[in-house]
Amino acid sequence: MKTSFVLTCATIFVLFQAVAQQDKPIQEVVNGALDFSMQQSLRMAAKYADSTEVLPRSFANGEMVTSDSRWWCSGYFPGVLWHLYDYSRDDRVLDLARNYTSRIEREQHVTEHHDIGLMLYCSFGNGFRLTGDPHYREVLLTGASSLATRFNPEIGLIRSWDWNRHRWQYPVIIDNMMNLELLLWAARASGKEAFREMAVSHADQTLIHHYRTDESCYHVVSYDTLSGHPHVKENFQGLADESSWSRGQAWGLYGYVLMYRETGNPRYLGQALKITDFLINHPNMPDDYIPYWDFNAPRIPDELRDASAGAIMASAWIELSRYVHEELAGRLVNIVETQLRTLASPAYTAELGENGDFILKHSVGFMLENAEVDVPLTYADYYYVEALMRYKRLMGF
Ligand code: GLY
Repeated sequence: MKTSFVLTCATIFVLFQAVAQQDKPIQEVVNGALDFSMQQSLRMAAKYADSTEVLPRSFANGEMVTSDSRWWCSGYFPGVLWHLYDYSRDDRVLDLARNYTSRIEREQHVTEHHDIGLMLYCSFGNGFRLTGDPHYREVLLTGASSLATRFNPEIGLIRSWDWNRHRWQYPVIIDNMMNLELLLWAARASGKEAFREMAVSHADQTLIHHYRTDESCYHVVSYDTLSGHPHVKENFQGLADESSWSRGQAWGLYGYVLMYRETGNPRYLGQALKITDFLINHPNMPDDYIPYWDFNAPRIPDELRDASAGAIMASAWIELSRYVHEELAGRLVNIVETQLRTLASPAYTAELGENGDFILKHSVGFMLENAEVDVPLTYADYYYVEALMRYKRLMGF
């Protein structure tokens, strides 16, 4: 009886805070969220300050989960620190961003998977943008060359994974769109057109083969190495082969927005808009635009949300709003404001010192494997902080 009274009071308190959050001016919400992110991330960084290799990954059952640089998410916490340095221009944060970034430097030589692009671009890429450090430039260019070894000109795509060879001849996952930013940057920085051609070819082939007629996408498309045509289109981290895994939709959206920014090709803008249409008009998209982990999850509305997918979409839509006509831009900005208010509310944002010092709660890594379900994840924090910074920049405050 007593326990349920306490729980009811706690729920009422959280709801009250959430309603109060809706009434605050959005600038206050965004600045408050960035200030909180600073405090929480400084705590996180201090925890592993004496190490040269530990990186935060998640927090589950009251325990921190960490990784070394090899885990595909290793660039995200350094990237959070760079965004927060951009916000604060605080030398303490700069030192920590440099420290955590150096922990993943060895990844520049990796040729065994595709994630090298996003790992390096979130960390060294932001570091180079903010400091112009020539060493960071070299690491990024070496990383781009490593990634480029995974491009097969006959197939026209960057190979994602090398495992599961009995099933996939040449697997490409939608997440791979996130690696193209490094190649496009490297083309500009080095003048090597080949990097750009690879990125364009990859984006074009993905657009043709990953997307269904309703503009949702598959997670995995594997190509026949002889014919160069897809031989498998299926699911890996979502619900089912024909379902729409939310984070996969978010990776594709973000990828085509960045392709448009970097190339100016209207085909990519068109694709980003089609994906947006699919997402915002989907009957299973909640009113706060933080999606369930899969749009076809069977028990919606009693399914878990994926804060990481919401944060990636928010960041992509802020950027997309800069490239479209006023009316649509206004609609996108309204959606993003709803997302940011929701993520900044106690429903998703941790208390200081809780949640393993991660910023956001409630992401879903890999539901079917029961791995990283309803936990904080570094990439949710990264795209959330990026979205807050992009929103601030867009609105000029
Ligand atoms: N495969 C990367 C992700 O979980 O989005």
